[in-house]
Amino acid sequence: MEIYLADESATLELGKQLAQHCPKQLFIMHLEGDLGAGKTTLSRGLIQQLGHKGNVKSPTYTLVERYDLTDKLVFHFDLYRLSDPEELEFLGLDDYFSENTLCLIEWAKQGGDYLPEPDLTLSLRYKNEGRLVTISAHSSAGQILCNTLNK
Ligand SMILES: Nc1ncnc2c1ncn2[C@@H]1O[C@H](COP(=O)(O)OP(=O)(O)OP(=O)(O)O)[C@@H](O)[C@H]1O
Ligand SMILES: [Mg+2]
Repeated sequence: MEIYLADESATLELGKQLAQHCPKQLFIMHLEGDLGAGKTTLSRGLIQQLGHKGNVKSPTYTLVERYDLTDKLVFHFDLYRLSDPEELEFLGLDDYFSENTLCLIEWAKQGGDYLPEPDLTLSLRYKNEGRLVTISAHSSAGQILCNTLNK
């Protein structure tokens, strides 16, 4: 599925919609796209919709940021600076990919085979003044979420 996001607010709005329909069980989203494509903007819309009041920045240096929200535990990864996928072993990944958590992963490719498969992949790219996002589901939970989005 492809959606054109004309401006930043459209990216935030897609994040909100994803938050509203995200299932309770472990759910993994990969956010792909070049530098500045809008991955963190989408994450911000999503995390703020789940009740976070402050800012959401790419956790570029810490690799992962935790948000303990009312109904959900969210881990937001940015693996851009990961030099070797093996470094992920030291993060103790099993603690993240456990029950009832939502994991948003920017630059998942840097994690190689260490990361579990996503339920949903969102791939953002520049188009005209805005962005074009391609959404692909890789599980039935991902497909259900995809179906709830306005086309
Ligand atoms: N649909 C859109 N149209 C135009 N600009 C947008 C859109 N969505 C987000 N932006 C803008 O793109 C810029 C970069 O966004 P963002 O930080 O989310 O990118 P990113 O993919 O997380 O980059 P990085 O790989 O560096 O972490 C921001 O200034 C944001 O306002
Ligand atoms: Mg980012």
